[in-house]
Amino acid sequence: MGTSNIKSFSFGSKDDGNERTITINELLDPSYGCYVWPSAFVLAEYIWYKRRDFQGKAVLELGAGTSLPGLLCTSLSPTNHTVLTDRSNFLLVLQNIKNSVLLNIPFFHDTTDTVSDYNDSENEKRKSRIWVRGLTWGEFANDKDCLSVLLDDIETLWGRKIDWLLGSDTFYDPKDFEDILGTISYILAYHSPEAKFLTTYQERSSKRSIQYLLDKWNLECRQISLSELRVDLEKYTIDDDTQQNQIGSNDVSDDTHIDQTKDNLESKKHHSQINPSMAYGNSIESIFLLEISLKQ
Ligand SMILES: C[S@@+](CC[C@H](N)C(=O)[O-])C[C@H]1O[C@@H](n2cnc3c(N)ncnc32)[C@H](O)[C@@H]1O
Repeated sequence: MGTSNIKSFSFGSKDDGNERTITINELLDPSYGCYVWPSAFVLAEYIWYKRRDFQGKAVLELGAGTSLPGLLCTSLSPTNHTVLTDRSNFLLVLQNIKNSVLLNIPFFHDTTDTVSDYNDSENEKRKSRIWVRGLTWGEFANDKDCLSVLLDDIETLWGRKIDWLLGSDTFYDPKDFEDILGTISYILAYHSPEAKFLTTYQERSSKRSIQYLLDKWNLECRQISLSELRVDLEKYTIDDDTQQNQIGSNDVSDDTHIDQTKDNLESKKHHSQINPSMAYGNSIESIFLLEISLKQ
């Protein structure tokens, strides 16, 4: 049994009858994908702010981790389709995404919603409008979890193409930058040329640039101003104290341990149990939003 925090994030207001609450299961585990990172919160706020653009759409979230932006998208319209993905061998993270999907099912207003995975029957996949899949950046073929299989499934089972790609805090390790941009380029070029990749990132070094990779992969990018967004750090309040997770399991392990960051994560966890806003501090100011598309 793993230990988890259940957190709720609300968007909109009850007063005008236009509110969504997304419930997330955070795991006390050093894997990056077990926490809601500030970039996820900012991307979700942007999606809520522009919610009309995300209604009736098909959305694919990469490196979804706890999947706050993707889950919010799913809740915006009963006709939305969503694929939440994370690295194929990060089984704990993938299982935890399924846990969070199940926590939010009541918002879907659709009794046919289920969480599908690779073992589901074709019928089950077809009726489900939210999938949780393994998808490792930079892997295109020759694997049951590979990108080409996923895109085929989207086209044949849902009969549609991806409208939005989402990624929050996916540009944190420069060694992955080419893999993620190559994946985006492949999806846009071979599946959905009109789609756009919305990604929030936290500036950790001013020396990092993705321009040469954008050029190499025939992509272009524009920065979207976040100045109109109201970001309320209080939303990081933990609902329930640290508790035993009834659905997760420690039996499944993955290799996301990165020793040098362990201390930071321990400290982040510790702070977030005392006062979650301390863990994020002013970091919201260092978050940027990019829209990446195929070069015209
Ligand atoms: C910093 S976390 C961000 C998680 C989540 N998007 C958020 O903002 O809260 C980075 C995420 O990317 C995933 N990831 C890392 N390397 C990956 C790869 N090569 N392919 C796919 N996902 C990867 C991690 O498992 C993790 O969920």
